[in-house]
Amino acid sequence: MSSCDCSGHQNVFSDRMAERDLKRYLADGPDGPTRLLVEAIRLQGVEAATVLDIGGGVGAVQFELLTAGASSAVSVDASPAFIAVARREAERRGLADRIAQREGDFVALAPEVASADVVTLVRVVCCYAVMPELLGRSAHHARRMLGVVYPRDAWWTRTGARLFNVAHRLTRDGFRIHVHREVEMDRLIRDAGFERQLLRRGPLWQVALYVRSPEAPAQP
Ligand SMILES: C[S@@+](CC[C@H](N)C(=O)[O-])C[C@H]1O[C@@H](n2cnc3c(N)ncnc32)[C@H](O)[C@@H]1O
Repeated sequence: MSSCDCSGHQNVFSDRMAERDLKRYLADGPDGPTRLLVEAIRLQGVEAATVLDIGGGVGAVQFELLTAGASSAVSVDASPAFIAVARREAERRGLADRIAQREGDFVALAPEVASADVVTLVRVVCCYAVMPELLGRSAHHARRMLGVVYPRDAWWTRTGARLFNVAHRLTRDGFRIHVHREVEMDRLIRDAGFERQLLRRGPLWQVALYVRSPEAPAQP
């Protein structure tokens, strides 16, 4: 069973937001946390790697990793607006034949989605109430690396999330932000067979890259 209120997502991750995000990405490139994660993945080696980008938005991670040498990417996103904008941009870049888009909640789609060498979730875990459902399935799909950008586990992000959620409760959309415990996320990923290679805490977001430990059983 999935804990995604994806109808709420559609109000928030709208056509307008998707166009705005793409415009920003085209003007400035990836934002700071995304750039840091992509660089850390690149340093581990992405030549010919396959990528699964969960909640990929307009496709920044996919475009950057394909440019860095990855062979192909699958993007799973719950927002039809983001999927449409990402597909259009992939076509414009001549990458459409190397990126497959799937619309929907990754937790529900996971059994039909193939594992990949690199799995990324950039600002996605915070959209999901039951963190182990989303992160557990994501880790299971990662053959070599799992990269996550998520809200800093701190009182100020919790306060911000609480205020945001009150505002959204008033507008009666189902979307909520969740600041999950870093220690719980870290334990879940390590238990799935990974070691942490990078943890960088910014004021709002933190970036973590995990690499599958040599002793961990290989993923299919
Ligand atoms: C805040 S946006 C981040 C987009 C992009 N990764 C970035 O950082 O610019 C969150 C994205 O995750 C998607 N999303 C959230 N929960 C999801 C889920 N369970 N399965 C698939 N996509 C999800 C949303 O539709 C949205 O496009």
